Amino acid sequence: MNEISLSEPITRAKDLAYVRMQAPDLAIGETFIEDFGLIVSARTADAIYARGTDSPHHVYILHQGEPACRSIAFHMQSLDDLNKLHHEAGATAIEELDEPGGGHVVRLTDPLGFTVEAIFGMEELEPIDAGKALPLNIDGQRNRVGRFADVKRGASTVKRIGHLVLECKQVEATYLWYWKHFGILRTDKVVQPSGADGMQFARLDKGLEYTDHHTIAFQYCIDGTERLQHVSFEVQNFDDVMIGHDHLLEAKRYKPVWGIGRHRLGGQIYDYWKDPWGRIHEHWADSDLLNVEYQATVQELDGARDYWGANQQPTMAYAIQNWSFTTVFNLLRIVAGAVKAKLTKG
Ligand SMILES: [Fe+2]
Repeated sequence: MNEISLSEPITRAKDLAYVRMQAPDLAIGETFIEDFGLIVSARTADAIYARGTDSPHHVYILHQGEPACRSIAFHMQSLDDLNKLHHEAGATAIEELDEPGGGHVVRLTDPLGFTVEAIFGMEELEPIDAGKALPLNIDGQRNRVGRFADVKRGASTVKRIGHLVLECKQVEATYLWYWKHFGILRTDKVVQPSGADGMQFARLDKGLEYTDHHTIAFQYCIDGTERLQHVSFEVQNFDDVMIGHDHLLEAKRYKPVWGIGRHRLGGQIYDYWKDPWGRIHEHWADSDLLNVEYQATVQELDGARDYWGANQQPTMAYAIQNWSFTTVFNLLRIVAGAVKAKLTKG
């Protein structure tokens, strides 16, 4: 781990690119993709590629297979970034991506054993016009006069992939690995009542350019299993979050797990759902934007409480993926830590 003390990361990722998921039934998977508001951009014999309204060829891949997340991927700044990464231990050679969208890839393995693809040169498509935002008559402003709101019902329209969260046993070590390889910066950290790491948010390093509060985050795994905890997509606006919620609810095939609310850390108006295989997918609009000058904070659980929403802290359906002895033990440990902290504070 001594290389982690390097003062400079090996690369600075340009953006999150996609998640590569697996599902046993692609027809059911495609129905979810469409209900969720992603747009199919290509198909092969055993995979579906889906995009948002922004230009990347795809932001989501669904392969035929047992329910799992096969890999996550970052867009890199240049082919030279791939060259730098391929010299790292365990990294593959630079390969051409033999699939729709193309480009080149180097695959690495993170401390969780997860495959991380560093890609460059994916095809860009013509952006899709999602329609003009509705002018709003709020905050004393009168921007929509003489016309109705006329919000069209239906699925949300995903704009782009926003962020993902990895559940891990070692939050700090996992963050440091991603910092070293992809240059992601610390945003805010949430600690457990015991002071142990609960969640580390991290963002892209774009210098003075503003970027989402978090593009990746690392969350302590209460049930002891390391996994993709959720993947998140920006939709067009607030109405788009709301109509998407109605649409998923009316489909009666999916489970809402948290939302709608506005996060304290990140600021997004969010809505979390489980796909047919229990994987959490999020819609959001209106993220906080930060640049390199932001000084990361450390928050206790109460400080991370959402601004508003039915549950201003994670629901059990969101936080617990799997009930086991480890889950109960860790929950009791967290509750005991909270009680102890309260008593210590008097
Ligand atoms: Fe999220």
